[in-house]
Amino acid sequence: MMYFACLVKVDWNPDAEGLMQHAREIAKRVSNVLEKDGIDDIPCFQSYDAPLRDHLKTLNPEQMKLLLRDSISPLPLHKSLTLIDALNKCKVERYYNHEILAFAKALVYSISNLHFGPEVGIGMRKEDSPVISPWLSNIHDMTKDILDLNKNKNTPSVVHCGDSRQIFNLLERNSIDAVITSPPYPNEKDYTRTTRLESVLLGFIHDKTELRKYKQNLMRSNTRNVFKGDDDDIWIADFPEIQRIADAIESKRIELEKTSGFERLYAKVAKLYFGGMARHLAELRQLLRPGALLAYVVGDQASYLRVMIHTGQLLADISSSLGYEIMGIDLFRTRQATATKEHLREEVVVLRWPG
Ligand SMILES: C[S@@+](CC[C@H](N)C(=O)[O-])C[C@H]1O[C@@H](n2cnc3c(N)ncnc32)[C@H](O)[C@@H]1O
Repeated sequence: MMYFACLVKVDWNPDAEGLMQHAREIAKRVSNVLEKDGIDDIPCFQSYDAPLRDHLKTLNPEQMKLLLRDSISPLPLHKSLTLIDALNKCKVERYYNHEILAFAKALVYSISNLHFGPEVGIGMRKEDSPVISPWLSNIHDMTKDILDLNKNKNTPSVVHCGDSRQIFNLLERNSIDAVITSPPYPNEKDYTRTTRLESVLLGFIHDKTELRKYKQNLMRSNTRNVFKGDDDDIWIADFPEIQRIADAIESKRIELEKTSGFERLYAKVAKLYFGGMARHLAELRQLLRPGALLAYVVGDQASYLRVMIHTGQLLADISSSLGYEIMGIDLFRTRQATATKEHLREEVVVLRWPG
């Protein structure tokens, strides 16, 4: 999903007017299809009777199982799938991706029941929601951007889809001058949940096997993302501070008699996380030009039984052991930990690769 969004965001080729016109035609078509079934896209005029309920388009059970429960109500789902159908049937190559991305945004922020606070969850369950108008409004915003930024149209950009721990074959040696990124933190957050609804509706993930494959390419930053045979921790085996943190988490777990499968993995995730970051930083070295600058935004965490993890400092220590120069650890902002009310630092670790 992220890869797709990036691809579209750097594609300035569609002509704004053509895109808007094509989207309006599709909107009309979807409106007609819905009206034939007695469905108005604007909820206040809805006559949503029981027989209709049985004929609504929906996802197959495998896909449904992937969604956070109540992510989207049946009627908005039906309308969304009707719009996707129309987009596929009336596909015009040069507009298609923009139209799909505009739909993804409308789906998450307007059509669905999702709420970000900042973690993804379910907010108010809306029985109905307009689908066509928020989608058209996003298309309209896109056309404005395309017009406003047209002068930069020919700035080249390439988007790669890959695992940052295995980028060796994606990028050229000695080709990178700067890296700026917000990698995962060891915070028990499952990043695949954030984009789950649109990933499933747009057909990027069809079942549990595909989800698992996708998760395997992500950093191990939460216990739902740990797999048999994971061994990124070998990369930090020589870091006593990370071993100490893992031991402290495990001792606390035993002391608190926490015995679930997830809790048993807490200490392991902490080690796998820093091991994965070490692996990324080690591999990256061959791709960097001498003098390259790097910025990593990371936050302190106390998600694992309140054991404090100073992510930025540890990342700086790992980087230093790999030959990077530490230019600074800048305070970006502080956040209050939900459990302990302590102030946690969010920092930018700035590195330089001397070559
Ligand atoms: C803290 S979030 C940053 C989100 C981003 N700044 C944004 O605004 O969308 C960390 C991101 O890293 C991604 N990620 C996790 N493991 C990765 C890996 N091995 N390679 C590349 N990206 C990864 C996650 O999916 C997540 O989107």
